[in-house]
Amino acid sequence: MKSKLLTLAKKFGTPLYVYDLKHIYKNLSALQTAFNQNIQIHYAMKANNYSPLLKKLAQKQIGVDVVSMGEMSLALKSGFKPSKIIFSGVAKTEDEIRFAIKSGIFLLNVESPQELERIGKLSLKHRKMTDVGFRLNPDVNPHTHPYITTGFKENKFGMDKSFLPELVRILKKYNKSLNLISLGFHIGSQLTKIAPYEEAVKKSIPIYKNLLSKGFKLKHFDIGGGIGIPYQNEKTININQYATSIQKLLRPLNCQIHCEPGRLLVGEAGYLLTKVEYVKRTPFKNFVVVNTGMHHLIRPALYNAFHGVENLSRKNKRKIKVDIVGPICESSDFIAKNRLLSPPHQGDILVIYNVGAYGATMASYYNMHVYPKEILT
Ligand code: LLP
Repeated sequence: MKSKLLTLAKKFGTPLYVYDLKHIYKNLSALQTAFNQNIQIHYAMKANNYSPLLKKLAQKQIGVDVVSMGEMSLALKSGFKPSKIIFSGVAKTEDEIRFAIKSGIFLLNVESPQELERIGKLSLKHRKMTDVGFRLNPDVNPHTHPYITTGFKENKFGMDKSFLPELVRILKKYNKSLNLISLGFHIGSQLTKIAPYEEAVKKSIPIYKNLLSKGFKLKHFDIGGGIGIPYQNEKTININQYATSIQKLLRPLNCQIHCEPGRLLVGEAGYLLTKVEYVKRTPFKNFVVVNTGMHHLIRPALYNAFHGVENLSRKNKRKIKVDIVGPICESSDFIAKNRLLSPPHQGDILVIYNVGAYGATMASYYNMHVYPKEILT
């Protein structure tokens, strides 16, 4: 792939996101193999919603995890079967819930008692029985960046176990329109250890059993997404160990396991190609000003995230220390700081690595620069 990038930059221009489909298929099949095909995968499309890619993933017969009406419509248009769509998110509006109910999706993952009440009421009105799952907040520390931690008691996501009596009351009230079939969690993103998942599963099992004992016919367990990728050669989760451990813990429940990976499938398969517009040497810094920035890849600005960068146009042994910055009128607009690069010249093409997840989907029109192009190869 790396050898093709310069040609692609010339052919399509920059800024350009390039996604490597073979790499994505490889990641997908590694996950399926780790679980012995015994897993239902719902790709978290917030990571990358490039429509040609979604179509390819839908053809693989996997499911999808969506968090808005926009994502749900695009998933349906891209060929995902309604019966494989999970609708997550803390702020589902009445319109969104109505759309989900009418589309007959697999599951709405409920994040609050008020939401459950709303789904019950709307389903009753439309004379539908709606399958729901409870998203727990198991209060575990996923040891990731605080902005992408979601299963800690301080986070707005999921439901504390103390909500259960109220949830059960609402389920009983709407027993003609609500059907609880699943329990699960999503504890955070870019996790690099298995232990938080194990802790979350262990905390969930008694709750699952408790709900079964109350007569609810749960059959599914959703372990969410969150598996990290190496951005800087760091050690991350071994998915075979992860799958073995989760399956072993959940075996007594005899349920179907579901997961919602985003980054794991697409993160490493994405490249952002950019052109050097200017090299500006000050007495203090070497700035490499490129035609992309925080408006196309906000991860460095928002999470201080590391993305590898390489100068594709030059291969010098001698490197110089540079800050790679974009055109946006604020100093948070950087791709990398204090990085060693083959001395860049105006017009050189740089590649930014591991941007297949949460790159283009988080892009904006801030400052009204061109939006990055995307291609699938
Ligand atoms: N399921 C739910 C309910 C989620 O909220 C998320 C991600 C996922 C699955 C997929 O998580 P993944 O497998 O991709 O870690 N913008 C941040 C990441 C935010 C993740 C939000 N939720 C970043 O650039 O690191």
